Amino acid sequence: SDNHGMKNLVLTINKLQENFKNLNVHMDIDLPQIAVVGIQSSGKSSVLEKFIGRDFLPRGSGIVTRRPLILQLITHTDEYAKFDHTEEVFRNFEKVQKEITQETDRVVGTNKGVSNIPIVLKVFSPNVLNLTLIDLPGMTKVPIGDQPQDIEHRIRSMILEFIKKETCLILAVTPATMDLANSEALKLAREVDPNGNRTIGVITKLDLMDKGTDAVEVLENRQFPLKRGYVGVVNRSQKDIDDKKDIKIAAKAELEFFKTHPSYRHLADRMGTDYLQRVLNKQLSEHILQNLPALREKLRKQHNALENEFKTTEVTSNVRLLNEIISKFKLDFRGELDGYGGSITKSDALTS
Ligand code: GDP
Ligand code: NA
Ligand code: MG
Repeated sequence: SDNHGMKNLVLTINKLQENFKNLNVHMDIDLPQIAVVGIQSSGKSSVLEKFIGRDFLPRGSGIVTRRPLILQLITHTDEYAKFDHTEEVFRNFEKVQKEITQETDRVVGTNKGVSNIPIVLKVFSPNVLNLTLIDLPGMTKVPIGDQPQDIEHRIRSMILEFIKKETCLILAVTPATMDLANSEALKLAREVDPNGNRTIGVITKLDLMDKGTDAVEVLENRQFPLKRGYVGVVNRSQKDIDDKKDIKIAAKAELEFFKTHPSYRHLADRMGTDYLQRVLNKQLSEHILQNLPALREKLRKQHNALENEFKTTEVTSNVRLLNEIISKFKLDFRGELDGYGGSITKSDALTS
């Protein structure tokens, strides 16, 4: 890969998270992640599915995503999925879709309420790069059916809860059919990231713009500049989905769209879902490296706190286990940092 020195960084972070969970230790550490935000039907799920090349997210009208979905993508020779809440291994992605729906209903009921308790799904696949993404409920204004009246407020605060963390990159999704000045995604991102240090713009539905109009000023980062810029994508239309158009064929059509479109031709190699995925992997890795000194410090504090706690309860084997995790963590990062030519040195990041 083009950033070989860093490609295991996300994996290491995932392992660390898992180790803490296995130890039954509450981890007071925010790990670097990417959260996807945008209004309902802006194309958030479509973008996530294309990263994986599989239909596996529940769809429908109204609020479909009603619990945060933490999606850990892991490069692997086999393709399968595994939830944190069950031992079952899923090779059929239609079943993954059903399981997400059932697990959502189990916690929030079928009444279209929302919950901030996340569902954790690991997807192993040769087609993915190591990334951790969070699919969040879409912002909505009007309660439907028997939704609680404060649904807008509840969803907003749930999203903010995730994206306020300095360790979270924000993927702000806005459909090209909407005026960017009114983008709820960008408004929300600005609330927690006023300088745009960790916001990445995504413009969906470029194929649905009125004839004679285009989003070239936005995509060239001239209209509402973001430090990390914008990536345009074209997802499957509802008709494509109803016709069961293959997601991989759709990805080819997307590339064709950019290559042949008179307004976007010159941007074609910086557009589309594949490009977005590569950008995200690179930016998440760099973001982790930037956060490494702070992460190390928190880890050390957590370690000390636990050591004290365990001393009093005399659970010494747990301390030993934790020590192993910490040394493993340091070893893993040492490897990554050796290959990194950036400003963080090994001693900056690792000496304690
Ligand atoms: P979410 O609610 O933000 O997760 O949005 P979805 O990904 O579920 O998409 C909502 C609807 O918009 C679906 O019917 C999609 O087929 C459609 N859609 C999403 N992105 C695009 C796009 O780029 N082009 C077209 N034509 N339709 C899209
Ligand atoms: Na939006
Ligand atoms: Mg969705």
